[in-house]
Amino acid sequence: MKQAVVVGSLNLDYSIGLERMPLPGETVSADSLRLTPGGKGANQAYALGRLGCKTAMIGAVGKDDAGRLLTGNLHSVGVDVSGIRESDTPTGQAFITVERKGENAIIILAGANGEVSADDVDRGRGLIEAADCLVMQLEIPVETVLYAARLAKSLGKMVVLDPAPAVSGLPDELFALADFVKPNETELSILTGMPTDTVAQCEAAAVTLLQKGVGTVLVSLGSKGVLAVSEGMESVLVPAVESVVVDTTAAGDCFTAAFVSAYDGDLKTALVYANTAASIAVSRPGAQASIPSAEEVKERL
Ligand code: ATP
Ligand code: RIB
Repeated sequence: MKQAVVVGSLNLDYSIGLERMPLPGETVSADSLRLTPGGKGANQAYALGRLGCKTAMIGAVGKDDAGRLLTGNLHSVGVDVSGIRESDTPTGQAFITVERKGENAIIILAGANGEVSADDVDRGRGLIEAADCLVMQLEIPVETVLYAARLAKSLGKMVVLDPAPAVSGLPDELFALADFVKPNETELSILTGMPTDTVAQCEAAAVTLLQKGVGTVLVSLGSKGVLAVSEGMESVLVPAVESVVVDTTAAGDCFTAAFVSAYDGDLKTALVYANTAASIAVSRPGAQASIPSAEEVKERL
């Protein structure tokens, strides 16, 4: 992909490293606390920039240190941050527990992300016009996501939706506007109301999204890789690249961005690239801090 625009969230991540999550009513000690740039939208914009794709971001941060850290980090990898508005509402925050085995759990406080609106999209229209592809997630209001998807589609752009955090009852129109949707197994189950415990179940659930008009569903399967399900084509399972897992935070974000950066019409090649990039991301702590460069991905390939 030559040029991308991300409409989405920016969060300051508070990552707490610990042996295991407390049970309800239990107190446990943490090993570490790290404050780092995150947010699904910003992670994807950062990864696109770091992987060499010309990228702009539309979103909102507070007039605070966190906002400056986040926009500065995107700027450091060449992302155009002119579409990120400074709001009187504080920057979004994410509270992440990372267990020693690498599993994470996340609570988000939307902050300024909750105010990203159609007006922000209109102000960033030039960035969307200049891009080949619009990339979105669900940490900003769904009506804004739908508005941006409509605009991008009317301009003939590719639309990629990473439906995280997943919610049931998304408007069918959003699926009809999406060329690619990338849920993980749990998100796919929430979106469709269907079981996704096996690859066959994932495929059946993905088909229901194709029936709503999605071009291709990319079901990320963690350590098992990714299942691509497209209308009229045989489904493809591309295995993950083996890795030592340290922290899976932003693995999905890295996957989506790497897929977009590599996609030029050849699905399999872009999926191998995305699995490779994400396999590096899971081997490092943090969200944006874990994203590899294009050179690192080529080396691993
Ligand atoms: P996140 O942890 O960011 O929420 P996700 O749940 O959206 O991620 P996953 O399906 O867990 O997405 O992972 C995305 C991609 O990361 C996978 O498709 C795979 O390419 C890679 N990946 C995840 N876990 C592993 C692993 N244990 N080993 C190698 N690659 C992995
Ligand atoms: O996908 C990972 C991201 O989810 C974290 O960076 C956190 O900010 C939450 O938005």
